[in-house]
Amino acid sequence: MRHLLSTDELSREKAIEILDSASQISRLNQDTTRKFPTLQGKTVVTLFFEDSTRTRISFELAAKRLSADVINFSSGGSAVSKGENLKDTAQTLEALGADALIVRHSASGASYNLAHNGWTSASIVNAGDGTNQHPTQALLDALSLRQGFEIKDGEGLDGKKILIVGDILHSRVARSNLSLLPTLGAEVDAVGPGSFSPGCKYANLDEALETKPDAVMMLRVQKERMNQPLIPSDKEYSRFWGLTEQRVKQVPNSLILHPGPMNRGLEISSYAAESENSLVLSQVKNGLAIRMAVLSMILGSKNEA
Ligand code: CP
Repeated sequence: MRHLLSTDELSREKAIEILDSASQISRLNQDTTRKFPTLQGKTVVTLFFEDSTRTRISFELAAKRLSADVINFSSGGSAVSKGENLKDTAQTLEALGADALIVRHSASGASYNLAHNGWTSASIVNAGDGTNQHPTQALLDALSLRQGFEIKDGEGLDGKKILIVGDILHSRVARSNLSLLPTLGAEVDAVGPGSFSPGCKYANLDEALETKPDAVMMLRVQKERMNQPLIPSDKEYSRFWGLTEQRVKQVPNSLILHPGPMNRGLEISSYAAESENSLVLSQVKNGLAIRMAVLSMILGSKNEA
């Protein structure tokens, strides 16, 4: 594997290989914070044109745990403010020795252009491109689900019913999961108000929860990607589509996921985020293991990984 741009490119076997590798790393991380020599001599650049807490920090930590040299690039404070474009920025970083670029960009397809248009020969990992893809998020979601369902290594998510709820329209997390989770054998339904999920067959979340999903994945309402308001008000959205305390009690056996950052009180209540079935912090923790597994596969040898 030279790049990771989309979950569309992952076969079931490859996805399970990544999950199993991350699962092993996660167990090792529990016992020790020592470094592994896998990426000694390699340089990893986190190239972020959009804000991030979880993804950027976990990629940085993952690369450091694997003994790579790490450079963090944020577009703010860089030559991007003087008009430098993505191609020139990537080529500049490659000239400085970057072996891999971890790219977050507001333009869908930015990572694909870097990887396949000859703009750079560094490996590219898509850390979120516009509304298109966020493959390592879906992988960490799948690992969290597998752990939450107590499914053992080597297996997928066969027969599990996963309900993805909310702002499907703007969600690269949804798109990556809508591809990966069925590859792993899960049955996935994506629901939300008509403006976010055209053709949704449910009027509200109560109706959707009547299908008794094994897990409910709530999505952040991405107001920063809307040119005009697509929901009548936060209160109305929460009333029809928010995961309230009452709705959590409607599905007491369902696992709860949210990629973060959460809009508490809008798409998810604090009760849901902190309930005993919530995987929110496991998702964050698994982000480190998944990113270590992906970087090892892309830049290290399989045996070292
Ligand atoms: N889930 C996610 O991508 O979070 P960040 O924006 O904090 O990286």
